Amino acid sequence: MKPSARKEYLAALGIETWVLRSAPVPAEHAAPAVMPRPVPREEPPAPRPGPPTVRSEPLAPREEGGDWAELRARVAACTRCSLSATRTQTVFGVGNLQAEWLIVGEAPGAEEDRRGEPFVGRAGQLLNSMLRAIGLAREQVYIANVLKCRPPGNRDPSPGEVAECLPYLERQIALLRPKIMLAVGRISAQNLLKTDTPLGRLRLKLHSFGLAQVPLVVTYHPAYLLRTPADKRKAWEDLKFAREVCASVQR
Ligand code: URA
Repeated sequence: MKPSARKEYLAALGIETWVLRSAPVPAEHAAPAVMPRPVPREEPPAPRPGPPTVRSEPLAPREEGGDWAELRARVAACTRCSLSATRTQTVFGVGNLQAEWLIVGEAPGAEEDRRGEPFVGRAGQLLNSMLRAIGLAREQVYIANVLKCRPPGNRDPSPGEVAECLPYLERQIALLRPKIMLAVGRISAQNLLKTDTPLGRLRLKLHSFGLAQVPLVVTYHPAYLLRTPADKRKAWEDLKFAREVCASVQR
């Protein structure tokens, strides 16, 4: 990739500063805000994709049949778990119904619960930048969550809630037939892959989801990246890897 293109992608991803962790930079040597930011050096080569993770457990019960409109209506009326009592509204998912990419987060937060759309808060803005970094507009992809309702106080989803809700996502996947799924964050990755392997060990590997074996790649949650910007560089590696995987998949 040309250095200028890489610089543009990194800027879109929000990787702006490149600071040596070892020693604090004395104030007189600190770069003034207007100076062009240094571009990170070439990364060590990313590990090659391993074999897809084989899922040993059966999928959760399927949400059979129906088109997008029917499914949306079923989700909107869902009372399968207690989150239906505390939600403002369900957050079904949004995006292009012909999308090659399906982005899967954890669950709606407060802003998403209020607006009825996934990833519309600060984390959503960073997600949009991450997508732009690999040449994708938000409108080109489909975005959904493992859970359609907000857990109060943004607590982690319970296994029961995931078991009740996952069939809706599975039906969305069956309707969308994405070329690639990008699981953002530990909760999404671990629930989709039915594993408790730490996220750091799920990254840069080619997994697959469900009976259709949809290729699945894992990366950090944008909310985590907002708290830990140093890991944006790793997210950039994940996104490049996912883009390579997508380019190699035939639909
Ligand atoms: N975090 C998520 O995982 N999903 C959203 O929709 C918003 C924040």
